[in-house]
Amino acid sequence: MSIHISARPGEIAPLVLLSGDPLRAKFIASEFLSSPRLVSETRNCLFYTGIYQNKQISVGASGMGCPSIGIYSYELYTEYNVDTIIRIGTCGAYDPELQLFDLINVKEAVSESTFALYAWGIKESVISNQGDIFETINKVSAKKSWPLRCGAIHSSDVFYSNQEGFSPLAMQHNCLAVEMESFALFANAKHCGKKAACLLTVSDLIAAKQKISPEQREKALLPMVQLALETADYSLHE
Ligand code: HPA
Repeated sequence: MSIHISARPGEIAPLVLLSGDPLRAKFIASEFLSSPRLVSETRNCLFYTGIYQNKQISVGASGMGCPSIGIYSYELYTEYNVDTIIRIGTCGAYDPELQLFDLINVKEAVSESTFALYAWGIKESVISNQGDIFETINKVSAKKSWPLRCGAIHSSDVFYSNQEGFSPLAMQHNCLAVEMESFALFANAKHCGKKAACLLTVSDLIAAKQKISPEQREKALLPMVQLALETADYSLHE
């Protein structure tokens, strides 16, 4: 047991898919894993462990924002011997060429957040994905001919604001889109010497003010979940 996760030692697999929303984690566990078992429900941040293609995988929730994913990913890495976390989330597109439902593999996270500095003394505002799982995602998507964009994204600390236009820091680094968690996940993985990647589905086009509807959401996320699971399968074979 850790402070925020009540699973017993050994109940969480070395590879974890981490969604922001606990109900999405529950849906993925029930639809894609065989023999899924609820291993933690502290604060309703659900974690399940089950089998995918004969391998143990866990799927759980990170909550929203860097502080929240910072807590869950750190406890997974340091108290449950987790080796790899693949975040599966949604993002708002900055790049006008992106369409709703497009998939992004995050090369690096760009942020104004002080998380990495205060936690680990990491001064950079750009942190790369960690380990080789980003490359494995690219390999798997290429093999299957599943379309995938790669690039920098903006990990923002704010969802609502009175600011006009996109973040200058994000524009300076050609960020494709905005979400709120990758920077802390990558910072923790870097500090702990672990692997981390992030897959994002475009759920809204910020300039065009379009978004996918709540009814479309569950289905929209399926290609991302499939790619994450196939990547997990591939990397656990190696
Ligand atoms: N901002 C931050 N995070 C997001 C957004 C957004 O517009 N859309 C989906 N995740």
